[in-house]
Amino acid sequence: MTEAPQHRAVALDDDKDALVILDQTKLPNEVVYLSLTRQEDIRRAIRLLQVRGAPAIGAAAAVGLYLAAKSIDATDNGAFYAQFGAAKDALAATRPTAVNLFRALDRMESVAEAHRSETPVRVKTLLRDEALRVLEEDAAACRAIGEHGLGLLRDGDGILTHCNAGYLATTRYGTALAPIHLGIERGYRFKLFVDETRPLLQGARLTAFELCAAGAETTLICDNTAACVMKNGWVQAVLVGCDRLAANGDACNKIGTSGVAILAKHYGVPFYVCAPTSTIDARAATGEDIPIEQRPPEEITEMWYKERMAPQGVRVYNPAFDVTDHALITGIVTECGVLRPPYGESIRRAAREAAV
Ligand code: MRU
Repeated sequence: MTEAPQHRAVALDDDKDALVILDQTKLPNEVVYLSLTRQEDIRRAIRLLQVRGAPAIGAAAAVGLYLAAKSIDATDNGAFYAQFGAAKDALAATRPTAVNLFRALDRMESVAEAHRSETPVRVKTLLRDEALRVLEEDAAACRAIGEHGLGLLRDGDGILTHCNAGYLATTRYGTALAPIHLGIERGYRFKLFVDETRPLLQGARLTAFELCAAGAETTLICDNTAACVMKNGWVQAVLVGCDRLAANGDACNKIGTSGVAILAKHYGVPFYVCAPTSTIDARAATGEDIPIEQRPPEEITEMWYKERMAPQGVRVYNPAFDVTDHALITGIVTECGVLRPPYGESIRRAAREAAV
């Protein structure tokens, strides 16, 4: 894929011992890269969605934990491992839903645990290698998702997407947007419908930014306009990302995704979830087992308005994610190919193949 228009959401700067992220709270008006060296700033960036999207959160946490390890000034293993464990726990407490966060941290911990007999200096080198592997593997998985997903689309298709599952949400290319970016490069003329994605507007601010920059025909719609564009016959496929995929194919993603899936079923539009196998949580038997993040009420009542838009004291319910029932999903696009129902079986097979 073309490198030029794609910003990098997450990177390691070895010279400064810093996690470098593109501050997504400033987009689309300002392109600002942050160079974070302090653990509290890295944790804050994840909590405040300066870096966001399941794979990008995992990558940021892996780099963050490496930097935490590197800064530990202990020559004896006992002290090193105690501080390493505390840094891991603190990073794990930033956001609860995207499983990529916990998977990346567990990978880092496994490397450290497997080398307990070695010096902290050596363990730090191994942790750097592992963090960079998390980034590289995600980029490769997203690229493969692009190829598999593009096989489901035709030139001229209308495609609706919800939230942002593009290169801003991953280390490269994106998941749901990877087939679109790839198709655009190969001359496909898609017509994109982008849900604004209340309350944090990842669609309006981030997906529209990515797609406009790529030169795609992009139409921004309010979340409650999705039924209308489907009824008009303007949408041939829905592509969305995923924060945690249960073993039975229930897919947890940005709040509002399950409503889009229900509409797609009603209007006979195929609904595809695009997710690397790192998003599979085999321990979650169904969507019921997935923890759903609750976010502050101000995101709904005042964050985007000149003045508060709801009465003081009103009760607010602000879950960041919902679960789309597996029965509504036409296919799950992974780096191992497009999984089809019955998902229990196809997800197990993909997880085995990818060894996650
Ligand atoms: O709260 P966010 O912005 O981190 O939520 C992001 C999403 O829901 C994405 O669709 C999901 O993480 C997939 S990103 C490839």
